Parts: sequence; structure tokens; C-alpha cells
Amino acid sequence: MDSYLNRMREEVEAELSAIRLPADPANLYEPIRYMLSLGGKRIRPILTLIGCQLFGKPYSEAMHQALAVEVFHNFTLVHDDVMDSADVRRNLPTVHKKWDVNIALLSGDGMIVIAYQLLFNAPNEKLRKLSDVFSKIALQVCEGQQFDMDYAAYPQVSISDYLEMIRLKTAVLLGGAMQLGAIMADANEKQLGQVQQFAESMGLAFQIKDDYLDSFGDQDAFGKEIGGDIREGKRTWLTLKAFELLGDDKQQLLDAYSNADINQRIAEVLSIYDKLGIKEYAEREISKYSDLALSTLAEIEGDEAVKDKLVDLVKSLIDRQN
Ligand code: IPE
Ligand code: IPE
Ligand code: MG
Ligand code: MG
Ligand code: MG
Repeated sequence: MDSYLNRMREEVEAELSAIRLPADPANLYEPIRYMLSLGGKRIRPILTLIGCQLFGKPYSEAMHQALAVEVFHNFTLVHDDVMDSADVRRNLPTVHKKWDVNIALLSGDGMIVIAYQLLFNAPNEKLRKLSDVFSKIALQVCEGQQFDMDYAAYPQVSISDYLEMIRLKTAVLLGGAMQLGAIMADANEKQLGQVQQFAESMGLAFQIKDDYLDSFGDQDAFGKEIGGDIREGKRTWLTLKAFELLGDDKQQLLDAYSNADINQRIAEVLSIYDKLGIKEYAEREISKYSDLALSTLAEIEGDEAVKDKLVDLVKSLIDRQN
């Protein structure tokens, strides 16, 4: 990430650690503090800040909304790790592993409330709009997460169903993050639609890259267990592309997925991916959506220097190893 975006990330980091939470009950607040202090790329709050700056206001005016989005995102991760039986996040034990599932549920619930408290630190005339955008997107994330779980049980999911699922679970929040910043800068409806569209395309590339790293990444850099999606039978872009390329030969992939030995299951699925060249197909798909994002960005009427920063951000997200 370039130094300008890095500075923004450091500011978000400082503001997050300045959020004051009560000491008791420790089993409610400690996991929240833990989750918020583990780092992470802080992409969504950066998008909120840039969304504000893009339309001519200092980014500090959207800091509360940026924090709201990051707290909400971290809530989704706490619950997602329960749903995905994931033990490691950001190279540390997940909340349900370090504490337990009930604590993960409740601290996640608490984080949604804290997110709304942060969001509403805004002038009265903006509250309705902020609330409408945030709530709509938050519910869409739940819809996407449900499709994600439902699809794990289906042998056949189309790539277009998959794209809609990741749009909901991941991309809309990147768009929403930017919209909140743009609302703080009094952007008009057309501009709000454009930033949503830009960040959604970037979000599709972002989630396909996440799927890619889950199979082909380096565990230390990624901070999550490699092969977790295969273990859970997730229908990721990689799996669906493999099914498509296998045509009438799909059974070998289904057999690999039904191997009771998890390590063998992961090794067999990865070897089919390798044989089919899935890695290269995925790289092309990631570029396709990031190019789409960049062409939408080019049309937005906003500060040109800020748009250049967004170009850097898109590039850093597709090249990332974490
Ligand atoms: C993880 O999000 C969940 C996805 C939508 C892929 P990030 O990759 O932004 O996670 P952190 O916040 O940087 O850890
Ligand atoms: C998660 O998708 C999307 C949300 C958290 C809403 P994943 O399940 O792929 O995210 P990671 O890989 O665990 O971060
Ligand atoms: Mg998940
Ligand atoms: Mg997950
Ligand atoms: Mg993932």
C-alpha cells in the first residue's frame, strides 16, 4: 500500500484503539477489544475516508462512519469464523476458539450496536440517509452469508449465482463503506450510485482473490488456515470453474470433496485445480473485475488526485498476499 494510504490506515488504527469500552462484563468486552486490536487491512474504513475526500471534504469528517464500518466488518468476521469453523484469523486464534461460541455470538451482537453508535455521530440531517444505506447493506451481508452456507450443500451452483452471493456477502459492504463517506461529503445520488458500482466491482475481485489465497496463499502471510474453504466444502470461484472445465468428468472433484480425511481432501482438490490450471483462470478473473472497477472509477466526477489514490488501492488489493 502506498504511503498516503498507509498513513490513513495508521490513523484508523489509532482511532480504533481509542474506542473506550467498559471493563465489565469482561467476557463481553474483552473479545471485542481483542478483535479490534488484531490489525487487518482496514480497507473498508479507508474507503469511507476516501469516499468523503473524493467529493471535496476533509476525510476526518467521515472518521466515525469509517470506524462504524470497520467495527461492523469485525462483527461479521467473528460470526463468520463460527459458521466456517475457522480457528485462525489474522494469525491468531479466533474469538470462538480463544473463548467459546456463546461469547463469539454475544460479543458480535455487541459490535453491531457499537457500529450504529459510531455511525450516528453525524449532523441530524444526515442520519436518515446514513441509517438507510448502512442497514440495507448490513442485511445484504446476512443474505450473502446465508447463500454461502446454503451453497456448500449443493453440488452445482452456477458462476452467476456465486457472483451474486459474493456481491452480497462482500462487495456491497465495500460499496456501502464508500457511500457513507460520500454522504458525509454531500455527494449526489448519481455519485453515490457510481461509488457503489466501483467498489462492488472491486469487491468481486477482492473476494475471488480471497478464495484464491485460501487455496494458493501462504498461511503466515494470509493469516488464515490454507484449505479452509475446501475442508468446509465451500463453493468458491475455484471450485465452480473446476466443475465447469471438468464437464462430464465432475465426479472426480465430487469424490475428492467427499474424502473423509481432511488433509487428503485438500491435497486431492488442489491437485485437480493444478491439473486444470485454475490458478491462472482465477488470476484473469480477478483482473477482469478490477479493470471493470477502474473503468467505472474513470467516469466519476470527483477529485482527480483522490481518484489516483483509488487506482493505487485497487492495484494493491489484487496484488495482495493477505
Ligand atoms: C475478510 O475481509 C472477509 C472477506 C470479505 C474476504 P478482509 O480480507 O478485509 O479481512 P481483514 O479485515 O483485512 O482481516
Ligand atoms: C466472508 O467470506 C465474508 C464475510 C465475513 C461477510 P469468507 O468466509 O471467505 O471470509 P474469510 O476468508 O473467512 O475471511
Ligand atoms: Mg464465510
Ligand atoms: Mg470465513
Ligand atoms: Mg475466505
